[in-house]
Amino acid sequence: MNQADAVPPATTSQRPASPLVKPAGGASKQLSSGPKNADARPLLVLGFESSCDETGVALVELQGQAVPRLLAHALYSQVEMHQAFGGVVPELASRDHIRRVLPLTSEVMANAGRSLREVDVVAYTRGPGLAGALLVGAGLACALAAALDKPVLGVHHLEGHLLSPFLSADPPQFPFVALLVSGGHTQLMRVDGVGRYEMLGETIDDAAGEAFDKSAKLMGLGYPGGPALAALAAQGDPKAYALPRPLLHSGDLDFSFAGLKTAVLVQSQKMVTAHGAPIAPSEYTLASGATPGFGALPLQMQANLAASTQAAIADVLVKKSMMALKTTGLQRLVVAGGVGANRSLREQLNTQCAARGVRVHYPELHLCTDNGAMIALAAAMRLQSGMQEASRDYAFHVQPRWPLQSLQVA
Ligand code: KG4
Ligand code: ZN
Repeated sequence: MNQADAVPPATTSQRPASPLVKPAGGASKQLSSGPKNADARPLLVLGFESSCDETGVALVELQGQAVPRLLAHALYSQVEMHQAFGGVVPELASRDHIRRVLPLTSEVMANAGRSLREVDVVAYTRGPGLAGALLVGAGLACALAAALDKPVLGVHHLEGHLLSPFLSADPPQFPFVALLVSGGHTQLMRVDGVGRYEMLGETIDDAAGEAFDKSAKLMGLGYPGGPALAALAAQGDPKAYALPRPLLHSGDLDFSFAGLKTAVLVQSQKMVTAHGAPIAPSEYTLASGATPGFGALPLQMQANLAASTQAAIADVLVKKSMMALKTTGLQRLVVAGGVGANRSLREQLNTQCAARGVRVHYPELHLCTDNGAMIALAAAMRLQSGMQEASRDYAFHVQPRWPLQSLQVA
């Protein structure tokens, strides 16, 4: 977390300094807001996301205690570039972020009808993520902020996901249970406010997104696997194959998905053997990671395995989410992260929550996966809650590994 010293006035701004930006050496050293600031001019927060394979830029407006408003955002997905390699190539990701980030920034400012001089705070993803990729966003944010003489703020990527439903038409209210399901994390948290996160349970090995991606790879669906597996599963029977639901009855709120991909591998090999599908010689030489012969199976069989895999993952996520609601006694569930885009998971959660009178909130579908909007939003909400200061210390560093609980305040 940034240890800011002071937030001097926004001297280069064309407009009068916001009352939210306290003068250096003034009584308050942080960008914070409260009811007394409700009439202040809004703050503009520019956010950069570059932790993995998506370059995201967004501009958010923060006014008093109102939920920050997204003015514009732009996203460039590197999926096509990495597809040839079957996964993200970190070095290529970093280089592509460099190429995309400035044009995206121009696009965002033009779409919002604002100029960079009007930006009050520059935010960026500080971690977790790929070190080189994070450095691009952090370096750009700090260089831009230094040039504009504006403060910067480093944001936790998962906090961005966690708070992203606040940009939806139906924003949640604190407190709530959060199910965070991304490519690298699967966590259930009790969330009492910005920066007030209590871990209830998490995966002890693979994340749910990894289970989707690795199973998809075995089925020859390439990268990114989650959406492709979900699309194939839509045509299949989720009860066709009995796959394990790891830790379903463990009594705690932890997850384990590493065994599932092994079960999918074994099942796919059994299907190939039983069906006697011919294996093309190229399947032995291509390092695709797919089970040889699987692609030659009838499409319905392939779809059935996809549907059974998706059901196994969703069942565990749904059951543990319901347990977390019961344990905490909370009546609100927030689902965030890329796997939260999964339609079948959403349907099951909606049904189970409705039966319990629990309200469930999701980010807008296009904001489920990585984006700049959630980073600008998280920065704005941290400023708004007084949880974090923006700083003119431009000597940035990134945190490729960074537990979300470390943001927890006393
Ligand atoms: O949150 P995210 O965009 O990136 C991380 O912070 O990791 O999540 C990416 C993960 C990947 O594992 C991807 O396969 C999965 O989210 N994902 C999905 C779907 N869309 C994305 N998994 C299942 N169904 C989907 N529709
Ligand atoms: Zn993410």
